[in-house]
Amino acid sequence: MSTDAIVILKADHKQMRILFRSFETAEDQAHATKEDLKTKIIEALTVHTYIENETMYPEVRRLLPDLEDDILESYEEHHVADVLVMELAGMPATHERFDAKMTVLMENVRHHMDEEEQDWFPKVRSGLGRNQLNELGSTMLEQKKTAPRSPLQPGALKKAIHAVTA
Ligand SMILES: [Fe+2]
Ligand SMILES: [Fe+2]
Repeated sequence: MSTDAIVILKADHKQMRILFRSFETAEDQAHATKEDLKTKIIEALTVHTYIENETMYPEVRRLLPDLEDDILESYEEHHVADVLVMELAGMPATHERFDAKMTVLMENVRHHMDEEEQDWFPKVRSGLGRNQLNELGSTMLEQKKTAPRSPLQPGALKKAIHAVTA
C-alpha cells in the first residue's frame, strides 16, 4: 500500500463517495440499511477528519505557509460537517429530518473533497517532496489504527474545535 499522503486521503474520499452513492440509491423506506450506512459514513468521516486535523492540515500549514487560507477554509468546512455528524449520530433513520440532514452532509463533504482533490492536493504535491509526502502518509496510516470512530469518542472533535477557536 502506498504511503503517499495524497494517495491515502484520495482513497478515503473514494470510499466515502461509494458510501454516499449507496445511501442515495437505498429505498426510501429502507431504514435499517440507511442506519447502517449512516454509521459507516460517520466512521469513515470521523477517521478521515481526525488524520487531516492531526497531521495533514497542521503540517502543510507549517511547511507551506502560502496555503494557509486554503487550510483555514478547510477547517470551517470540516466544522460544518462535524455539526451535522454530531446531530446525525443521535438521530434515527425514521426521523423526518434524517434524509434531509444526510443529503446536506453529503453535499457539503462532496464539495469539500472536490476542492481538496482539484485545487488543494495539486498545490501540496508541487510544494512538498516525495519524501515529505511519504512521511506524512506513514504518520496518518499509523494514526488511523487508533483514531476515534465516532464523534462521541474522546478526542474526535478536540483538534477541530481547537483549530477553529484557538
Ligand atoms: Fe478535508
Ligand atoms: Fe479529505
